[in-house]
Amino acid sequence: MPKKPELPPALRPGAETWLPLETPRLILREVTANDFDDIHDYATDPEVVRYMFWGPNTRRDTRNVLAGWLRDQRRWPRAVVNMAAQHKADGRMIGAVRFAFVDPPRLTCDFGYSFNRAYWNQGFATEAAGALIDLAFGRLGMRRVFATCDARNIGSWRVMEKLGMRREALFRQDTQAHDGWRDTYLYAILADERAARATTV
Ligand SMILES: CC(C)(COP(=O)(O)OP(=O)(O)OC[C@H]1O[C@@H](n2cnc3c(N)ncnc32)[C@H](O)[C@@H]1OP(=O)(O)O)[C@@H](O)C(=O)NCCC(=O)NCCS
Repeated sequence: MPKKPELPPALRPGAETWLPLETPRLILREVTANDFDDIHDYATDPEVVRYMFWGPNTRRDTRNVLAGWLRDQRRWPRAVVNMAAQHKADGRMIGAVRFAFVDPPRLTCDFGYSFNRAYWNQGFATEAAGALIDLAFGRLGMRRVFATCDARNIGSWRVMEKLGMRREALFRQDTQAHDGWRDTYLYAILADERAARATTV
């Protein structure tokens, strides 16, 4: 009989926090109540929410999501960590990233991201998600990281390809988007693939 899987150390009671994370241009940190306006700014933009399962937000929607994130912060460790991506240069929260231990016994996690449109195509999502992948395979000892997106969301899957993730699956009409049933891509990377890449680039 296989042994009962243990929780990875990062999820055991008393695990040390790994926040904030720092990248060259961003700080990934816990969200605060002061971030309301910055969150509401991108969450009301129809272009930002086009491929998301939420939005465009009312003020009440943003209040609820922020309250949920603040409530989650009372627990550490936790399986799902939503973070503010704060732009170092101007201090704004320019996006949110999510990191989740989706399958702890298999040391598998996933991530997601949304950024304010004013900051698109400047490499911020790649920078943030790259930091999450390095965290996962480094300090957190994970072995597989994946992410999914609407197959039409070119910006999102380009980020994953830039990070060396492989397109593993196309799920046909597996879920409902704002405009109907959508196709979903799943991209993934393994710890040893990331390590091999780090030595070749
Ligand atoms: C998806 C998203 C997070 C990407 O963030 P970003 O900071 O712009 O990403 P990056 O700048 O790191 O990389 C984007 C890449 O996609 C490319 N790209 C974006 N739109 C494109 C398009 N329509 N056609 C071709 N390439 C496109 C950019 O040129 C860039 O690639 P490059 O560096 O090779 O030029 C951002 O567009 C966003 O917040 N979208 C709304 C929320 C969302 O859809 N989140 C993802 C849910 S799965």
